[in-house]
Amino acid sequence: MKKFIAFGFLALSVCVFGKETKPATAIRPGEVWLDTDGKMVNAHGGGILFHAGTYYWYGEIKEGKTYLPEVNKSWGGTRVDVVGVSCYSSKDLLAWKNEGNVLPAVPGTDLDPKLVLERPKVVYNAKTKKFVLWFHSDSLNYAAAKAGVATSDSPTGPFTYHGSFRPHANQWPVGVTEEQKADEKSQLVKDFSVGQMVRDLTVFVDDDGKAYLFAASEGNPTMQISELTEDYLKTTGKYIRICEGRSMEAPAVFKREGKYHMIASGCTAWAPNAARSVVADSIWGPWKELENPCKGEKADISFFSQSTYVLPVHGKPDQFIFMGDRWIKDDLADSRYIWLPITFTEKGQPEIRWHDSWSIR
Ligand code: DGJ
Repeated sequence: MKKFIAFGFLALSVCVFGKETKPATAIRPGEVWLDTDGKMVNAHGGGILFHAGTYYWYGEIKEGKTYLPEVNKSWGGTRVDVVGVSCYSSKDLLAWKNEGNVLPAVPGTDLDPKLVLERPKVVYNAKTKKFVLWFHSDSLNYAAAKAGVATSDSPTGPFTYHGSFRPHANQWPVGVTEEQKADEKSQLVKDFSVGQMVRDLTVFVDDDGKAYLFAASEGNPTMQISELTEDYLKTTGKYIRICEGRSMEAPAVFKREGKYHMIASGCTAWAPNAARSVVADSIWGPWKELENPCKGEKADISFFSQSTYVLPVHGKPDQFIFMGDRWIKDDLADSRYIWLPITFTEKGQPEIRWHDSWSIR
């Protein structure tokens, strides 16, 4: 009888006090993804770090309805409140435990709730043993266009904020011509003394431990790649301009069979567009544009998503996951995650096809 009562109470508690949550058994792009507490995963514009047997997923925390039509209509009228950076951990990329807000907003700083924090990416520096977080730090009208940096001794934070800045003040990119230097109308020259713009960004760590910042710059038309210092906290001053005039955002960078790949989006605010892919034999280029990697129905709008990261699956040498955001601009918190496997043609062109549900091989 006692056993029966105990079972009855347990069943009641599950129904009344908590939502029943079954761990996901497959990746279902576009569906509601729940964490191990049964709450919606809140990690937008994010990236993943694999460290010591665990995947850590960092992303923008979006809360509430973020659509305020009176704010800066030219950007689609969406205001993005800074709540902070979320961190979730998982061993299998299916069950995600919420590790909390690892870099909360701080009123009165560049992390003020009324400003912009987007696309956080964390990398591990084996020399300093620090986890280094880079993010796009901006004003509400996206004019400040800076990079923010924070560090932690642990992948689950808390992260200490070191400030936001524009890199490359008074530094010319590798390969700049005298003609380019003299073009006072160009954004590169306009920003020469104050530093280059940083908007959508990612950080890529190469096999030799060198790290690079990829950022949409010069008002977005051009992507810039900057070498980072050994501690990954600053840029060294060496940088190049790629995909000039192609207006690419949302860079996601990975290396396969010795080649560097970047998948990115076009530049249409929160609206989806056709993805781009570029490839190079060296980080320093030349970068060659390939085809839209998305194939099949809705490929022209990347299956209603925008890239944020490409995850190499640990222990599976040729398995890469395209991670994208399906932005819902008037309710950014409800934006869903579009994760799809990447395959490669014989020529090495990445291809992404839609799957309602799929599993890691
Ligand atoms: C597109 C970017 O990729 C997003 O991260 C965000 O900055 C929106 N633009 C804002 O319109």
